[in-house]
Amino acid sequence: MADAFQPERIVVTGGAGFIGSNFVHWVVQNQPGVHVTVLDKLTYAGNLDNLEGIPEDRMEFVRGDICDAQLVDGLLSRADAAVHFAAESHNDNSIADPEPFVRTNVEGTYTLLEAARKHGVRFHHISTDEVYGDLALDDPARFTEDSPYKPSSPYSSTKAASDMLVRAWHRTYGVPATISNCSNNYGPRQHIEKFIPRQVTNILSGARPKLYGDGLNVRDWIHTEDHSSAVWAILTRGRAGETYLIGADGERSNREVLSAILEAMDRPADGFDWVRDRPGHDRRYAIDSAKLRRELGWRPLHTDFAEGLADTIAWYRDNPQWWQGAKEATEAKYAAQGQ
Ligand code: NAD
Ligand code: DAU
Repeated sequence: MADAFQPERIVVTGGAGFIGSNFVHWVVQNQPGVHVTVLDKLTYAGNLDNLEGIPEDRMEFVRGDICDAQLVDGLLSRADAAVHFAAESHNDNSIADPEPFVRTNVEGTYTLLEAARKHGVRFHHISTDEVYGDLALDDPARFTEDSPYKPSSPYSSTKAASDMLVRAWHRTYGVPATISNCSNNYGPRQHIEKFIPRQVTNILSGARPKLYGDGLNVRDWIHTEDHSSAVWAILTRGRAGETYLIGADGERSNREVLSAILEAMDRPADGFDWVRDRPGHDRRYAIDSAKLRRELGWRPLHTDFAEGLADTIAWYRDNPQWWQGAKEATEAKYAAQGQ
């Protein structure tokens, strides 16, 4: 399917994080005519190494805060599109301290929208399936674009608020904006606070994996490269004002994912610890991505979870310098929470 909108200069916020950096690599590899400006504050979750290998003539890196209106205005005045990944992204952190979530996720999105409005910039907002709350384990339903907003955590409520701002800025001011709500991503360069990398790096460091609650919570896993290709499809062929759900039919319980990790890393099936549950822990997420597939012809390429997981484990094994420096502090934070 041909692209209807062909941007030449895009601003990618949060491009030094897990999914944002994957998207920058994806664009540089697949869209030769596009120049990327990354705007990233380099919080604990941002890492310049994530952008290693990208040629200088294809990308400019700007260290800064999406809440800095003057900086954001200047960058968007020179762009024809903005793809907004920057966020505080971890639920457990939002429970411990919600303040930066409200600031970055809500105020930061507002700041970007104001600049997009002023400069007529196409705006794609990256959001999450968590805005829809959770589903029961025995419910055959999946989230669709029409599901009601019902966020549970400080993180997901700030993402829901940011989605509402985007919708209002489109309807009231005509900002040419789209939104995508994606399910749980996995792949290389994900921060080790998150479920899969935490367990993998625990095992690689000689510690035991940690499973919350009864381990039956279900997440709908998608490889981050498939998220990137979906975002490009929506940015270039999606209809302004529309929301698209992104998912790859990857529902698995946490217990199942952990069992797959233990098996792939030659550890006994009971080689993990049960730990305190997350307060307000969402039970199940599940995405129906029919609209994205039907309207934009998108399909995921990484459909073999065991293979994607093995590649991800290999990446953490091969790149200890990337994660070892953050391991002690990350685990100390969890230990203080009984997790
Ligand atoms: P991440 O935490 O790995 O990266 C976030 C990036 O944003 C970091 O590089 C950080 O430095 C940057 N950042 C944070 N605050 C900033 C600020 N005020 N100004 C500028 N930069 C700032 O996050 P991720 O997992 O890559 O998630 C990226 C986006 O995708 C988020 O919007 C998240 O809500 C969404 N999302 C994530 C998942 C997932 O499974 N991880 C799934 C669906 C949607
Ligand atoms: O659904 C999309 C969301 O997925 C994104 O919006 C978030 O940014 C992203 O962090 C992710 O949120 P989750 O809370 O689902 O991901 P997390 O990796 O923190 O946890 C996945 C599941 O694993 C969840 O049910 C909690 C559980 N868990 C997590 C950790 C860190 C454990 O059992 N043990 C752990 O050590």
